[in-house]
Amino acid sequence: MSIKIPAGLTDLLQSFTVEVLRKQPADLVGFAVQYFSKLQASQKLPFGHEKSGSGALRAGKAVNFADEPMQTDSENGEEEEEEEEEEDDLEEFEAPMINRFTRRVSVCAEAFNPDEEEEETEPWVVHPKTDEQRRRLQDACKDILLFKNLDQEQMFQLLDAMFEIHVKVGEHVIDQGDDGDNFYVIERGTYDIFVNVDGLQRCVGAYDNRGSFGELALMYNTPRAATIIATSNGALWGLDRATFRRIIVKNNARKRRLYEEFVQSLPLLKSLELGERMKVVDVFGTKTYKDEERIIAQGEKADCFYIVESGEVRITMKHKTKSDADGGVEIARCSRGQYFGELALVANQPRAASAYAVGNVKCLVMDVQAFERLLGPCMDIMKRNIANYEEQLVDLFGTNMDLTDPAV
Ligand code: CMP
Ligand code: CMP
Repeated sequence: MSIKIPAGLTDLLQSFTVEVLRKQPADLVGFAVQYFSKLQASQKLPFGHEKSGSGALRAGKAVNFADEPMQTDSENGEEEEEEEEEEDDLEEFEAPMINRFTRRVSVCAEAFNPDEEEEETEPWVVHPKTDEQRRRLQDACKDILLFKNLDQEQMFQLLDAMFEIHVKVGEHVIDQGDDGDNFYVIERGTYDIFVNVDGLQRCVGAYDNRGSFGELALMYNTPRAATIIATSNGALWGLDRATFRRIIVKNNARKRRLYEEFVQSLPLLKSLELGERMKVVDVFGTKTYKDEERIIAQGEKADCFYIVESGEVRITMKHKTKSDADGGVEIARCSRGQYFGELALVANQPRAASAYAVGNVKCLVMDVQAFERLLGPCMDIMKRNIANYEEQLVDLFGTNMDLTDPAV
């Protein structure tokens, strides 16, 4: 007989155990009563079943069980805690301040060996679809970066294997810590991303009617690294683990071979370890643009980051006092190895400038979730460059601009 472990139980007990080990309370039962009462009072049970679309779980707020200001200095607290009364134990149960750009997810990549995959004699999974379903699926998949480097046959095998899933608001599509079963492509709906840090659920981002998630556990054979909760009714397309590994993981091995040297040469990524650089390669897709094609439009919402692989990109900016008819002034050019499109992601603002292809251009493209997850250690370099942009704009427009200020 198989017994189903309720979603979230493992994390709930794990978080509790960590607190017990940290605080070493004399009265374990009393401590447990207090711990779980506080948790319930906060109405923010880790992996709970409330609708995450409302309340403090959203929009980057950390769940703070003690309702106290967040602290970053845990060292001091730890030194004093042994003398403290048990009563106070939970009072210092505070959410650690997480800088979303320095956070590293504890996804420890297992040895990456696609040769271990099953023999190609296995039949391919096929979920029959109507023409209308197939059209919707193709539309949902057209911008999925992980699918960008696949050949036509692989793409057909993948589309055949995908299956439609309807989700209801509040539903947990993925629970952190679980084993990975499927990869998901969003057809519609909004979804919050929660990461559990020291027992606290932190909303680290959201998907808005596009994108995909659930690749990490399948790529690296690790437990799910985040919880994904639907904040509206929605529709997803699932891809089973075996097909994902057969196509995407194999393709990633090829991508690693192709891009290893290039990625090693990028100054931006110099603070990353080799394994982390390879994870960057795993998640990016390549996009090509024709001469004069617009890659980024000033003022638009941003969800991608770019590194030029070949060709040249022209960056232009319209000053806020200029009319829309004004094409803008050229402010920079990016060539092989240089990056652009980071500013809007770092500052959480619309695009500050436009980007156009000069001749044929090929870029490596990474989505905002991967950017935040993987490029935290590269943030110093990016921030220094943003300061340079501001100086450059003073020269061009004669006025000071704070590029990280939403009013600009
Ligand atoms: P996986 O670990 O398989 O399941 C949870 C998914 O959430 C993960 O794959 C990523 O696709 C997605 N995700 C988005 N943002 C993050 C993040 N900051 N940390 C971990 N996973 C994230
Ligand atoms: P982002 O605002 O996301 O999109 C436009 C990009 O142009 C911006 O990120 C930077 O990467 C790039 N850029 C290059 N030079 C400048 C500059 N002087 N000011 C603002 N953006 C610049």
